[in-house]
Amino acid sequence: MGMEIIVQNTEQEQHRPVWIQNAAQLITLASNQKGPRIKEGMSELSIIEGGSVWIENGVIKAVGTMQQMIPICMPRAHEAEIVDATGKIVTPGLIDPHTHIVHGGSREFEFEMRIQGKGYMDILQKGGGIHATTRKTREVSEEQIYNDSAHRLDSFLQHGVTTLESKSGYGLDLETEMKQLRIMKRLNDKHPVEIIPTFMGAHAVPENYSGRADAYVDYVIQEMIPKVAQQNLAKFCDVFLEKGVFTPEQAERVLLAGKEHGLIPKVHADEIEAYGGAELAAKVGAITADHLLKTSDEGFQKLAESGVIACLLPATALILGEQPARARDMIEAGVPVAISTDCNPGSSPTTSMPLIMNLACIMMRMTPAETICAATYNAACAIGMEDKIGSIEVGKRGDVVIWNVSNYQKLNYMFGINHVHGVWKKGIQVVR
Ligand code: NIG
Ligand code: FE
Repeated sequence: MGMEIIVQNTEQEQHRPVWIQNAAQLITLASNQKGPRIKEGMSELSIIEGGSVWIENGVIKAVGTMQQMIPICMPRAHEAEIVDATGKIVTPGLIDPHTHIVHGGSREFEFEMRIQGKGYMDILQKGGGIHATTRKTREVSEEQIYNDSAHRLDSFLQHGVTTLESKSGYGLDLETEMKQLRIMKRLNDKHPVEIIPTFMGAHAVPENYSGRADAYVDYVIQEMIPKVAQQNLAKFCDVFLEKGVFTPEQAERVLLAGKEHGLIPKVHADEIEAYGGAELAAKVGAITADHLLKTSDEGFQKLAESGVIACLLPATALILGEQPARARDMIEAGVPVAISTDCNPGSSPTTSMPLIMNLACIMMRMTPAETICAATYNAACAIGMEDKIGSIEVGKRGDVVIWNVSNYQKLNYMFGINHVHGVWKKGIQVVR
């Protein structure tokens, strides 16, 4: 019995109230505190046993125990779709705050080469990697990339993700960067998963600018950023700050130019080598610093002081054969942590956030509770959406997942299995 996507467009559906009843654990993540959760706060899931939720017109209208909810909801029960969650847990829809889902082609042959010992940066420098995907993304038709990306979104949804961030960065020229962002916008109008777009023109130095990174940065700043901002095609601006790609100075120029045009900075930081990524994120007031595999303790301190969220990508470390990010040290230092798939055709071809939660436990010693916070509320903060999504609280969007497990620890304990029982986006069942 496969998981079925049953609604294609939540905007067009009739809204009938949904009453989810009697969950073994309703994992609300409710809190009076604003901003991302840190330290012990990441473990406070605000669980209601025997929990119940009423969703109406796309929004959560009531949350409580079954006993509290019966008097409130009974008079209108006949109008509602009743969903029995006995023996199951309910969480907010998962949020993936870092993906590269819109691209042409795939790179299974590089996967094979890396298994045989070739390095990721080596492949990139020889014209593979991001360059290979860039060639494909330029070549392949907009329709084809739209359809392939929609399939990836289907898979995210089937694994419990209701919102994700997605980056451009496989165009590396104005036309193709715009093509990627346009596809995201179209997907947003059609697909139940909401996409928050990021402009990442500075993902690599394109081959026609080889050896002229500064000139490419000028092009990104002068030609791309103003157009992207003017057409309102992105919320964030990201850059691959890495030895052999962009220097801290170049990355800073890009991020400050983005900021001037209203794009909030994000940084691919310290992935392969420590190169001042965390420090730059703190300096420019980035919302997140991502990867952080090689960041020093001083770097963690800077992130904590500036309130930058660490977005950790354990599948990427696994696939690249790198030591995982030091999540425990970051959490102890007071850095808020979010986790993500980094879904991309090179270093992380997965669409499974539950797998990432498992890996976060196994590889980075995050607790099951911390991974839930990192994949819901803190992930919402990582895309600036925490006032709308990321917890099950009155007034928030009706994005929830019912999982076929009786407690939240089991979600991470039994790994490589899709435990999704049902997914609701804005109060409409989209997966069954
Ligand atoms: O986050 N590090 C740079 N960008 C992506 C990988 C892109 C690719 O290999 O296609 C990442 O790992
Ligand atoms: Fe990435």
